[in-house]
Amino acid sequence: MTSAMPQPVTAKLTHAAIFLVVSLKPEPDAKASVHALCGDLPGLLRGIGFRNPDRRLSCVMGFGSAAWDRLFGAPRPAQLHPFREIKGVHHAPSTPGDMLFHIRATHMDLCFELAAQIMQRLGDAAVAEDEVHGFKYFDERDLLGFVDGTENPVDQEAVDATIVGNEDAAFAGGSYVIVQKYLHDLKAWNALPVEQQEKIVGRKKLSDIELDEAAKPSYAHNVLTSIEENGEELQIVRDNMPFGEVGKGEFGTYFIGYARSPARIEQMLSNMFIGKPPGNYDRLLDFSKAVTGALFFVPSMSFLEQLQA
Ligand code: HEM
Repeated sequence: MTSAMPQPVTAKLTHAAIFLVVSLKPEPDAKASVHALCGDLPGLLRGIGFRNPDRRLSCVMGFGSAAWDRLFGAPRPAQLHPFREIKGVHHAPSTPGDMLFHIRATHMDLCFELAAQIMQRLGDAAVAEDEVHGFKYFDERDLLGFVDGTENPVDQEAVDATIVGNEDAAFAGGSYVIVQKYLHDLKAWNALPVEQQEKIVGRKKLSDIELDEAAKPSYAHNVLTSIEENGEELQIVRDNMPFGEVGKGEFGTYFIGYARSPARIEQMLSNMFIGKPPGNYDRLLDFSKAVTGALFFVPSMSFLEQLQA
């Protein structure tokens, strides 16, 4: 395994998060601003986070494919490419974004302060494409009412699922992340009988117990997202968050998935949107529309630190 220190990809789930996706402006000095921010980020985190260390402020910074070439050139992470749009039974769009900031803490004040400092540092170099403020909803539930995150790997298993190793030695300690913003049709969802909802998710709604294999349809979300290679389960780490604006009737889930290879997340997306076999798609998507989609590489801390030199 690697000795390069990863970013806090596998940080424990928290109660608040900001997902900030920005695009870089074409101005030549944008590159210098980003390099300076990479160097400043640990200090910013210390400055803001140390006020309340038990609130566990953390930030993961990722870079899109085109931005990587512009900011860092060669070599590039072996599997970094733009998010691939999927036109299946449902549509997974690919939307702009050069950098992702995944900011987590137990309280929103710390997330908000760090996001504000980041945008201030980037100044004229960047524009925000999308900013979502996520919150924990009761016992880790999404706005569909189901507990979300139960089967996430933890501890060493989470590290093994997410952190690049010798398969790309120059980028060991890095990770890949895919984000998608989903908007739910809650009215239609809540009109479904709970038993039907449970078949779609593959778990009991109240108790969060997994349905028996015999009771799970082949289109259940947890069937389509369970994938294997050579008999071994390929895992990812998710830290989805609910968000919304009641006045607008907006109820959403921000999907974020980390993995040591984007291919395994892409396989899950293909199973969900196209179906496995094709046509046997994820019924969650009849009630949840993906409105963004982007892929980023998360370099190791060691990579970011050497930019300061
Ligand atoms: C509308 C968006 C989504 C919602 C509301 C949602 C919700 C859920 C829920 C409630 C579970 C069951 C509890 C758990 O184990 O966490 C689950 C499991 C899972 N989801 Fe999602 N999910 C969404 C999108 C996605 C996407 C886009 C992916 C991957 C590309 C994904 C991958 C997984 C995986 C790997 C599991 C665990 C399956 C298992 O091993 O049992 N989810 N999701």
